[in-house]
Amino acid sequence: MARATLHFPPDFLWGTATSSHQVEGNNTNNDWWAWEHSPQNRVFESQTSGDACDWWEGRAEEDIARMAELGLRAHRMSVEWSRIEPEPGTWDYAAIDRYREILTAMKDVGIRPMLTLHHFTNPQWLAERGGWLNEETPAQFANYANKVVTELLDLCNFWCTINEPNVLAFGAYLSGRWPPQHESARDYIAIVANLLRGHGLAYRKIKQVQRTSEVGLAKHIVSWHPAGDLPHNYVLTWYIERAFNRITIDALKSGVLRVPFRSRVDVPEAKDSLDWIGLNYYHRLDVGLALLSKDPRYIRLGARPGVPQGPDEWGEFYAQGLFDALDYLHNTLGLPIYVTENGLPDGEDTERPGFMLRHLQALWQATMSHKGVQGYFWWSLVDNFEWAEGYDPRFNFGLYQVDFETQERALRPSGELFSAVVKANAIDSEIARPFAPDAVEELFPGRAPVAEVESEPGDE
Ligand code: FCB
Repeated sequence: MARATLHFPPDFLWGTATSSHQVEGNNTNNDWWAWEHSPQNRVFESQTSGDACDWWEGRAEEDIARMAELGLRAHRMSVEWSRIEPEPGTWDYAAIDRYREILTAMKDVGIRPMLTLHHFTNPQWLAERGGWLNEETPAQFANYANKVVTELLDLCNFWCTINEPNVLAFGAYLSGRWPPQHESARDYIAIVANLLRGHGLAYRKIKQVQRTSEVGLAKHIVSWHPAGDLPHNYVLTWYIERAFNRITIDALKSGVLRVPFRSRVDVPEAKDSLDWIGLNYYHRLDVGLALLSKDPRYIRLGARPGVPQGPDEWGEFYAQGLFDALDYLHNTLGLPIYVTENGLPDGEDTERPGFMLRHLQALWQATMSHKGVQGYFWWSLVDNFEWAEGYDPRFNFGLYQVDFETQERALRPSGELFSAVVKANAIDSEIARPFAPDAVEELFPGRAPVAEVESEPGDE
């Protein structure tokens, strides 16, 4: 049988990703914690994040050992603003030391950290001042970024300022699903603008403090697709694609946030503020006008019927969308790209191996066609607190399953597959076959691809 091997470049950076609130546990001083403990809690079964994966109390080190066992070379994690600056202008050096311990543990096993400075959560004092609607927040954020980088620069030079500006603005200010539960298109735009300003100001501060720094942000891109052939769904898709994917990327180039049919917002701080761009890619969503819907915006988002998809409104598993997003970012920005998140909700691990293989093949195609892709971070290393989905087992993303009662971890088959790819720095059809036979058949149908063919002994 012909064996296909798709090699990645020798210095390709393989890692996993997590965020502070989702794994640390007991982040008692941020807006999510306050919301989880209030009557407004809209998390699955009114759960709270609780101990999460217990990283703060010591389990980060255990999980770092797991990263090393998997053969990873990098990990993307975030630092929690509310721990580092518990009151405005007050720095908690014990918290900074704890992050130093975690980063040192990574260094000891050769894992390169990428540190995100803002991953959705805000200190409670900031939220009480209006969070990112307050025009002073971008400068506050840059001040905090400056402090973090100054304190940690001997252990990290790879910084992701802000995670997913549009997802935060959508979840917290447009859809009303996350704290502070606003439902306002005007707030959505104001938040994206201020996050971009904060990013730009932080970028410049970091560059002053650390010349060798590599600074970017993580942009979530959805593959938007019109539901059916109805013309109004095309128009709606066009609009949403711009308002969600493109405005932010364009603003990072031009310094102007331009939402169709709305007035422009100047964000000059954002112009020329990237050394690299991060892509978070998960799914394709069909967009349809739903006049009978209870949703006041009369828009229906979800997977097409009958395709492989995640639970609830998660969307379609669509590997081509990863290639398309990398292609778009490359053509628009021409910068080095890291896939800063990719993964799927799948507590049973039935879909994950096939999803992984299809997406890694799309990643390989983009890498080989010179789109500037430098690395890839799987979301996530461990199951964790999945925001409004809480600990709903259908929304488990980990290579390791976590039992949240006992904190025990168990490597899933997809974790073994990821490790095999990382260790070989290649997708090998025969190593992958037992994990995802259908995906292997689909990707390597009966003949060897052009990349490279290795014959097994006995092949004629
Ligand atoms: C992304 C978030 C991340 C995680 C994944 C599933 O949008 O950045 O924290 O929740 O989705």
